[in-house]
Amino acid sequence: MYEVSSKIKIEPLPEGMTLQAIDIYHVYGLEHQNKVVALRGVSFDINKGEILGIVGPSGSGKSTLLLSLGGMLKPTAGQVIYEDGTDISKLPEEQQFQFRRNNIGYVFQEQNLIPYLSAEKNIEMPMRLVNKSFAERKARVKELMERLGIWHRRTHTPKKISGGEQQRVAIARALANNPKLIFADEPTGNVDSETSTQILDLFKELTQEMETSYLICSHDPIVGEFTDRTLEIRDGILIGEHLKGIDLTDLDSSRLLVIDNQNRITLPEKAILELHGVILYTWEMTNEGILLKPLGKIDKKRERKIKFCTTCGAEIPPDTYSCLRCGAKLTRVVR
Ligand SMILES: Nc1ncnc2c1ncn2[C@@H]1O[C@H](COP(=O)(O)OP(=O)(O)OP(=O)(O)O)[C@@H](O)[C@H]1O
Ligand SMILES: [Mg+2]
Repeated sequence: MYEVSSKIKIEPLPEGMTLQAIDIYHVYGLEHQNKVVALRGVSFDINKGEILGIVGPSGSGKSTLLLSLGGMLKPTAGQVIYEDGTDISKLPEEQQFQFRRNNIGYVFQEQNLIPYLSAEKNIEMPMRLVNKSFAERKARVKELMERLGIWHRRTHTPKKISGGEQQRVAIARALANNPKLIFADEPTGNVDSETSTQILDLFKELTQEMETSYLICSHDPIVGEFTDRTLEIRDGILIGEHLKGIDLTDLDSSRLLVIDNQNRITLPEKAILELHGVILYTWEMTNEGILLKPLGKIDKKRERKIKFCTTCGAEIPPDTYSCLRCGAKLTRVVR
């Protein structure tokens, strides 16, 4: 059971589920003119012992999602429910800290190590915060540093070790308190493929030993081979799901389309391009499924009309439908 106020508790999640995200929205700069809607109603579950991946282009909302689920960022709307029914986003700040310390490990995109502390002191820090004994702390630091191949660097400060070693220190720190759930933002971003495999093997061992669950954002092909399931996010919307062992360089071949909590479905870019600008469809149920038929003719020779981004004015190359400069979406693909 999590140690939180009983006022915030609602129904526990169904057996086997460790987290449920319900309709998460996040708007940056709500109070300013330049708002960015980073998440637009994202819902999904994480099961106990599951290694769940998140992929999507740069700026699609992956880090924002991880920060929102871990309670580091307050979602503008939505619920983040943990196993016993606690909604972390609704906890008062002090209880949120306590909840995070006890239940969540976080590997950031930037490692956020404390610069003036040695590697071993950095790893020890989360255990100090929950008052683990000296002997327990020492034993855990040694075990993790040995498993990650950084024991010989234990007395060095972050500045004096390589980027890959810093990354492993950050991972050891996230694992220190044996959290039930680990959020990892590009955990293998700074390491070679051998070290990536070593890190991922450790993650896998921990899911088997303690039913730890992982939510991992990554573009690393090795991570794609290793996740149990991968969610695909684009422009803050969940658009697809991929099953075990995927090739991150060819998502089209494994993508299952998602009808999300708000009944939205996003067609793959390839399909949209094939539609050549037709925007109205008739639909019918058939024995095979649903058939969409364009209303009007598909004219493959139609000239592309959108040449400049309507948001920032940058030139749009053919067959592109988000602006390469500002990332704005072209809502209709017109050739
Ligand atoms: N602190 C912030 N203030 C305003 N906008 C932000 C802030 N952080 C992120 N954004 C914007 O929110 C959107 C989602 O950003 P996010 O960092 O979640 O993307 P990402 O998928 O993690 O990208 P990357 O793969 O590059 O790490 C982007 O448009 C980004 O510019
Ligand atoms: Mg990110």
